[in-house]
Amino acid sequence: MPDTARSKAKVAIFISGTGTNMAALLYASRLAQAPFEIVLVASNRETASGLSFAQLEGVPTFVHSHKGHTRAEHDAAMEAAAHEAGAQYIVLAGYMRILSEAFVERWAGRILNIHPSLLPKYKGLDTYSRAIEAGDAHAGASVHLVTPELDAGEVLAQARVAIAPEDTPETLAARVKVAEHQLFPRAVADYVSRGNDPDHLYTRVADLALALPEAHAKDSHGSPGFRVGPVKSGKFFAHFSQQHHGSEHIAVLVKTGGMEELLDLVEAQPEVYFKPAYYGASGWIGLILNRPDVDWGHVAQWLERSWRSVAPARLTRLLDAADQF
Ligand code: GRF
Repeated sequence: MPDTARSKAKVAIFISGTGTNMAALLYASRLAQAPFEIVLVASNRETASGLSFAQLEGVPTFVHSHKGHTRAEHDAAMEAAAHEAGAQYIVLAGYMRILSEAFVERWAGRILNIHPSLLPKYKGLDTYSRAIEAGDAHAGASVHLVTPELDAGEVLAQARVAIAPEDTPETLAARVKVAEHQLFPRAVADYVSRGNDPDHLYTRVADLALALPEAHAKDSHGSPGFRVGPVKSGKFFAHFSQQHHGSEHIAVLVKTGGMEELLDLVEAQPEVYFKPAYYGASGWIGLILNRPDVDWGHVAQWLERSWRSVAPARLTRLLDAADQF
């Protein structure tokens, strides 16, 4: 798909301090082809110097002191500002507040943080002195998804920084910062682009398809597909289609009940479904995957339905029995 056809992911950055990582993200967002834009810089501290920097660069800012508020109240104010700015992702760049569990769960998979250690080592504070005291050869930084447990979400990317014998926490921190400024924009760009990355989308489809009984992957006409039954004689229940035959979609093709259902679905939700070339004629429908907000539960349901339509009865009975629990 041409880049111009894609809208940029909207990112709100939360800071508490100098905001040098925020600055790195902002300048990266303004390079040609950047897949994200910064729609808000929000802080819990009025004196955060990053705020004046953001203002200078014309980025909307929001400040709400945490003092005198419960955690839930403060989070709600920050969240409202993020929504108002149209943010799809929240990126924590030196935000020194722990977010409430409810907040984190509402934004699950859409909040990223940068932490100055090679996670899972040295969660929490004083990461540089702990790495030096442990005699580690390397320190570094990690970009990770935020989950309710502190610094424990999936690590998306890391940068390693060598520790010198004469390093103090301050000298080491300065070099880790330089590495962070390279790492963070790249990790955010990769993460928000995952929805257009065929490898990532294939992996998600494969995880769901191969979880079905006796499913295996098998290519068909040069495209990956999934079959049920014996490896030699199984039947296809899904095909993965990556911008084939002039289509700009990355999609998984699954079996409908027939042409009438297929055409009804395409007409009702053209942003979700399409009639693929060749396969469409025999009732396969395309579920579009390279679009915002794919409902993966819905994809899983279609895969199961399609699997059921070709699986032998002994296997569908197995799944029925499993569904009882
Ligand atoms: C960074 O070192 C980051 O790893 C940590 O907070 C610091 C923020 O620095 N979470 P800055 O405000 O971006 O300069």
